[in-house]
Amino acid sequence: MSDPPIRCERRGAVAVWTLDRPKALNALDRATLEALLAAASDLAHAPDVGALVVTGAGRAFAAGADIAEMSALSPAGAEAFSRLGHQALGALEELDIPTIAAVNGFALGGGCELALACDWIYASHAARFGQPEVHLGLVPGFGGTSRLVRRVGLVWAKELVLSGEPVDAETAQRIGLANRLFDPEALLPAAIAVGETVAARGPLAVAAAKRLMQQGQDADVRTAHALEQQAFGLVFASDDRAEGMAAFLEKRDPAFEGR
Ligand code: CAA
Repeated sequence: MSDPPIRCERRGAVAVWTLDRPKALNALDRATLEALLAAASDLAHAPDVGALVVTGAGRAFAAGADIAEMSALSPAGAEAFSRLGHQALGALEELDIPTIAAVNGFALGGGCELALACDWIYASHAARFGQPEVHLGLVPGFGGTSRLVRRVGLVWAKELVLSGEPVDAETAQRIGLANRLFDPEALLPAAIAVGETVAARGPLAVAAAKRLMQQGQDADVRTAHALEQQAFGLVFASDDRAEGMAAFLEKRDPAFEGR
């Protein structure tokens, strides 16, 4: 049996997925996308996990969809491959818990799109981001044309997607693609540490706030405001809200139970 393409581990309340095909720079083939989909489904049913960090083994986060595997596809097969990528990254994006991409090296094509499906990106100074599909006569296929536009705005997305040229970590941070940069050895600990921070917050509130921001950006602003008011009332009914406020007033740390 071949080695699994991603390693799924736990660091306390934080799950860590490591793309683990370093010889192919963690290129995303069908098996890896199917493993991501299965791992997302497992995590959706893991109540004791409060955050996820996604990273890559070796010198890449992921250098894109697997070009060798793709080269044998028919047009219909390519559409199905794109659909599988969308399913896997959509399942990741839909997780209730915060997800952090720890981009350790190349995040190109589907690799950049995988990072974009996470809630935010921390990157190593050695990271390189790009959507080089046009070099191959392709368009981004795992959500890059929509998620990148939303993350960095239309004109930076156009430069990246239409030129196919990569940007360095500093540029990625400047345009809002990477939130923070770290020395390579500090990246994963920093991503896990922020994962631990969010995992200690009220999980119902974190999940509701994430959902509101995701739904809110696709809705008109009045609808987004109405959704927020409803959610505010809903979380107010939770035991966690009572515990959080009591803990503040009693000057102690809250003990949230996700109820
Ligand atoms: N698919 C398959 N294999 C890949 C790969 C990919 N996307 N990227 C790298 N590899 C493989 C190389 O073929 C090579 O394998 P061998 O050792 O067996 O020859 C190995 O990884 C190391 O790569 P390089 O020798 O090329 O390493 P380098 O340091 O010289 O260059 C790189 C690194 C600039 C990232 C270069 O590998 C590269 O340009 N890779 C392709 C990047 C790309 O075009 N990504 C987009 C793919 S299309 C896509 O993602 C579509 C979509 O949106 C769904």
